[in-house]
Parts: sequence; structure tokens; C-alpha cells
Amino acid sequence: MNLPEDLPKAELHLHIEGTLEPELAFALAARNGVDLPYASAEELRRAYRFDDLQSFLDLYYALMAVLRTADDFAELADAYLARAAAQGVRHAEIFFDPQAHTDRGVPLGTVVEGLAGALERSEERHGVTTQLIMCFLRDRSAESARETLDAARPYLDRIAGVGLDSAEVGHPPAKFREVYEAAGALGLRRVAHAGEEGPPSYVREALDVLGVERIDHGLRAMEDPELVRRLVRDRVPLTLCPLSNVRLRAVDLLEDHPLKAMMDAGLLVTVNSDDPAYFGGYVGDTFHAVREALALTEDDLRRLARNSFEAAFLDHDEDLRAR
Ligand code: ADE
Ligand code: ZN
Repeated sequence: MNLPEDLPKAELHLHIEGTLEPELAFALAARNGVDLPYASAEELRRAYRFDDLQSFLDLYYALMAVLRTADDFAELADAYLARAAAQGVRHAEIFFDPQAHTDRGVPLGTVVEGLAGALERSEERHGVTTQLIMCFLRDRSAESARETLDAARPYLDRIAGVGLDSAEVGHPPAKFREVYEAAGALGLRRVAHAGEEGPPSYVREALDVLGVERIDHGLRAMEDPELVRRLVRDRVPLTLCPLSNVRLRAVDLLEDHPLKAMMDAGLLVTVNSDDPAYFGGYVGDTFHAVREALALTEDDLRRLARNSFEAAFLDHDEDLRAR
């Protein structure tokens, strides 16, 4: 068979800001006159050691200071798409965090113009079709999320859906009921991070209160057999990110990751890279790593690739072409 990293696949859980490689961070810092508190890209990379989600988020948000112009965002996205294409990605549904930029004085229009510009060129340049998903930061207020949705109105032709990310525990999905209702009424697709560090009840809430079509992570759903039965029955996709789970200590070792158990339970799981610049690999690298650590078979890998297209926001024709 092809190497697992070459299998055609869709990537459905990828934060574009999490693709900021140290070298690009330094290049953008120099261009924009931003001081980074690291002597070199190597020193920065050595700082990529995390105790949990929050310790990662602190660095992730701090480094965004180097992203200022539409060109910066376009360069970031284009670099990701080139890497993803080289690892077999044919379709990518890409998250971005508007509030993390508007709070620093970067207008939403700058962010969207830059990202969407790179995404529009992606099929021709890299052979990768794309969609953009705007995430609300769940550790900010529901009002701030609502203002973000309102501010995005002029750009909705370039935004396929909404998501929910950032620090999970203490910020249950129900906090965002209204903004998700409004997003649904605007015809936006809905996804949310749930069950990464938060309890299985957050997964239920994301489904029942926010009406999401996919759960990002969903790892902790495995603690609740009744919830697992529901996710299997309704074929709710879970976008797993095994390398992220190890780096952020949701699991101790990749060998302990429940990916295979989740597949065996009949769940519609996909494998993704989350924040690949920080977690040690892009999605092809992740396929490779889980194959080794969990002794996945060729069939398992093909099933994961097939699941990624089934779970994608693609129409059926596009789906067939992508394969
Ligand atoms: N933002 C970027 N990566 C994230 C993750 N893994 N969980 C929550 N928010 C995030
Ligand atoms: Zn994520």
C-alpha cells in the first residue's frame, strides 16, 4: 500500500494558528518589528513542552503577536497547505480564532482576507480543497462570541461554519446556546471541541444544546457507555488528535491512546493534527505514529482515511473526486 502518510485524506481538526512554525514566527517577527522573548527558533522550539491545555494555550496566544497583516495570514495558511498536500491531504477544514486577533487590534477583515486568499488558491496550487471554520473562544463571554458572529457577517461567503475552542473546563457548551442558534439560522455548519479535558456531559451538551454535527476530540466520551452508543448510532464524527492528546497530557503515551478502542466500538473517528507546529507532526506524521504505536492494520488506516471524507462538509461528488 501507499505509505500511511500518503493516503488521500481530509483534515478536519486543524487550527491555522497552530501551524506557526518557529522559523516562520521569527521571520514574521522581524518583518513586523515584534520582539520575541527567545534567542532563536531552536530555543523557541525547546519551549514547546506542555503540562496541559492551558500551558499550551498561553504560548499559542502569545506567539500570535507576530501575525499582523493579511499577507502574514496568507503566508501561514499557504505554508500549512503545502505541508498538508505533501502528506496526502486532499481536503482541509481549517479553524481560526478571530477573537485572538481582534483583541490585539488586528481587524477581522485582515484575518479573513489573508486566510481566504490563500485558501482560494489552494486547489490550483496544492490540490487541496478547503473550508474555513471560525471558532469562538469559550473562555471569553457569550457576548463576545455574539459580537464576533455579527462582525463576521460581511465575510460569511468565505466562512463555512463555527466552532468552539480554547480552555474547556469550566466553560460548558450551553454558555454559547444563543450564538450557535444564530449561526445555525445563518446557514453555518456547527462543530465544537468537547471532551478533550472536559467531561462527557460537555459532549452531550454540544450535541443537544448547540446542535453540532461533529465533536472535536470527544476523547472522554469513552467514559460514558450510553453516550458511546448514541455517537455510534447517530454516526457523529469525532475528530481525534492523538499527538495533541499526548503533548497536552490527556493520555500518557501514544500507546495508551483509545483511538483503536474507539474504532472497535464502532465510532466514526478521524485522525487530525490540531496544532502541528507545536505537537510534533502534521496529519501524515500522525497516521504514521498511530500505526506504529497502536499496531493499526492497512484496513484500519484506510478506514480512518474513508471516515475523514465521510465526516467532511463535502458534497458527495466532491467526496468521490477527492478519493
Ligand atoms: N486551540 C488550539 N488548539 C486547541 C485545542 N487542542 N483545544 C482547545 N483549544 C485549542
Ligand atoms: Zn483543537
